[in-house]
Amino acid sequence: MTDILLSPGKLGRLTLPNRVVMAPMTRSRAIGNVPNDLMARYYAERAGAGLIITEGVAPSADGLGYPRIPGIFTDEQQAGWRKVTDAVHAKGGRIVVQLMHTGRIGHPDNMLPGARLVAPSAVAAAGQMWTDQKGLQDHPVPVEMTEADIAKAIGEYVDASRRAIAAGFDGVELHGANGYLIDQFLNTKSNRRADRWGGSVENRTRFAVEVAKAVAAAIGPDRVGIRISPHGVYNDLAPDAEMDALYLALLRALDSLGIAFVHFVNVGAMGAPEPKPALRKALREAFHGAFILNGGYDGAKAEADLAAGAGDFVAFGKPFISNPDLVAKLKAGAPLRPADPETFFTPGERGYTDYPAGLAA
Ligand SMILES: Cc1cc2nc3c(=O)[nH]c(=O)nc-3n(C[C@H](O)[C@H](O)[C@H](O)COP(=O)(O)O)c2cc1C
Repeated sequence: MTDILLSPGKLGRLTLPNRVVMAPMTRSRAIGNVPNDLMARYYAERAGAGLIITEGVAPSADGLGYPRIPGIFTDEQQAGWRKVTDAVHAKGGRIVVQLMHTGRIGHPDNMLPGARLVAPSAVAAAGQMWTDQKGLQDHPVPVEMTEADIAKAIGEYVDASRRAIAAGFDGVELHGANGYLIDQFLNTKSNRRADRWGGSVENRTRFAVEVAKAVAAAIGPDRVGIRISPHGVYNDLAPDAEMDALYLALLRALDSLGIAFVHFVNVGAMGAPEPKPALRKALREAFHGAFILNGGYDGAKAEADLAAGAGDFVAFGKPFISNPDLVAKLKAGAPLRPADPETFFTPGERGYTDYPAGLAA
């Protein structure tokens, strides 16, 4: 049964024909950091989704830490995205861009000349990251952001959001999850500041709220959402005793801005200990816009969680990589084809646009 999953629902100013959302997924096919025809094809093939959320997209050169990820801060990148949004809209779909400022998760070899690796505090993430030039490299120590750097970064999210609307996107998802810049401010492991951007719950949520407020003022709150991953440990973050209170305060503040959606990642599906179901329930109650669930879903689990009122929409990640016609398959109850992790981030068509459409597994 997928009756609720395949029924329409409202998300901000959009009405989605079904509740199946394509989760944001970095695919590293943007050679030169510019969206291209291959990416337009990939997204258009998945236009049956109620809503597509793009891969993480850098709002600025400082926010572009990975190789071959796209940006949305130059005219050329904006024009590349126009091809993508036109292709998705021509197939009857809807698409929002995920703005991902990578903060301390980056490497100079992946970044454009003049770009800086910035973060709330000068604390390197443990672990390594891929560079096309030298393979895996340790995460460097980032530069601690000044007040001016913080104001600049907020401005970059605003400029990128304006470019997104000009490029034909239906809205913007702020990446507040998985250990990137916004999450680096939320988390005590990466945020050691003693000024108004660190320390208390209110101070640590300030960056997320100020970004959301500025972007909402620029393009309208009904076109803005945010992704969160409470209790996530990805990119060397760690939960602390105030974490539940922090997310509750964050969602109350975002609710007062009237933004369109919150996208809740169940980090249990990403290998971290699962947060208590009571937290998700409390967050859902604190926020009155649309609530998107994600992490380890199939059709049956999605339908059950929607029926239980846990959320309004369900985002599918890996199933969308290998099943471009995911909605048709869910409707038919057809088996899903597994995705091949070997080609998640490799350049070119293989493992990207060569998964067959149609109902075959
Ligand atoms: C190849 C790949 C790339 C991803 N890139 C992003 C990303 O750019 N932004 C993001 O918020 N999450 C990213 N994720 C996480 C997914 O959006 C999703 O949360 C995760 O895959 C769990 O959902 P699933 O079980 O339906 O796959 C990525 C996941 C995968 C597999």
